[in-house]
Amino acid sequence: MRIVVLTGAGISAESGLATFRGAGGLWEGHRPEDVATPEAFAADRGLVQRFYDARRAQLRTVAPNPAHHALGALEADLGDDLVLVTQNIDDLHERAGSTRVVHMHGELLRARCEACDGQPPWTDALIDEPACPICGVTALRPDVVWFGEAPYHMDRIQQELEDCDLFVAIGTSGLVYPAAGFVDWARRHGARTVELNLAPTDDEAFDESWAGPASEVVPTWVEHLRSPRAS
Ligand code: APR
Repeated sequence: MRIVVLTGAGISAESGLATFRGAGGLWEGHRPEDVATPEAFAADRGLVQRFYDARRAQLRTVAPNPAHHALGALEADLGDDLVLVTQNIDDLHERAGSTRVVHMHGELLRARCEACDGQPPWTDALIDEPACPICGVTALRPDVVWFGEAPYHMDRIQQELEDCDLFVAIGTSGLVYPAAGFVDWARRHGARTVELNLAPTDDEAFDESWAGPASEVVPTWVEHLRSPRAS
């Protein structure tokens, strides 16, 4: 059985990383248009670099939760039959053992060079405008897909959605496209669809809905899937 899992900020909430639209969510401190758009970067480069520097530094203070670990274990079981697409830019899936992670919105732990298009791994700050380790030009930005920019790996994601038997959305509000349209695309190509969320979005595109915090619901769902009598 081929499975595509899509995760959003909700899977990392219990690890201490704020979601985007929850109360006190990440965007509360900064209006989205202040930090996550190419226009904002052109208007106030320092603010945007500092915003992502703070989030990159915060990664060192948080850890994966049981939801991330359950998906890592599931990959160990299923191998290539599981594709994990995430809207998240943290590295918690990788730290929990997932190796086949498709970061459609980029990664905090990478920079992107606007001179050579390189995407070097990056753990430090960018506020001091360091030179690109690949081409030497001072033109590094966070390797994060901003509002109005094209998400990464869309061709591969579309193919995986068309080929999968089961599509599972975990901890995502389903408000931001194109990720919000994945459930319909998978369903249209014959997949069964499941939602795991603290508060189900009651989107009728889902055949099944599991409500509760990801750290409890994801391990339970994975155990259910691995049990021999699973449908
Ligand atoms: N367990 C499970 N789900 C949770 C939990 C939790 N502990 N806490 C919150 N959630 C759910 C919320 O119910 C909501 O549906 O996680 C979802 C978080 O929604 P958003 O904050 O909108 O995050 P996300 O869906 O990832 O946003 C998508 O929007 O701002 C852009 O690029 C950004 O990748 C982001 C995209």
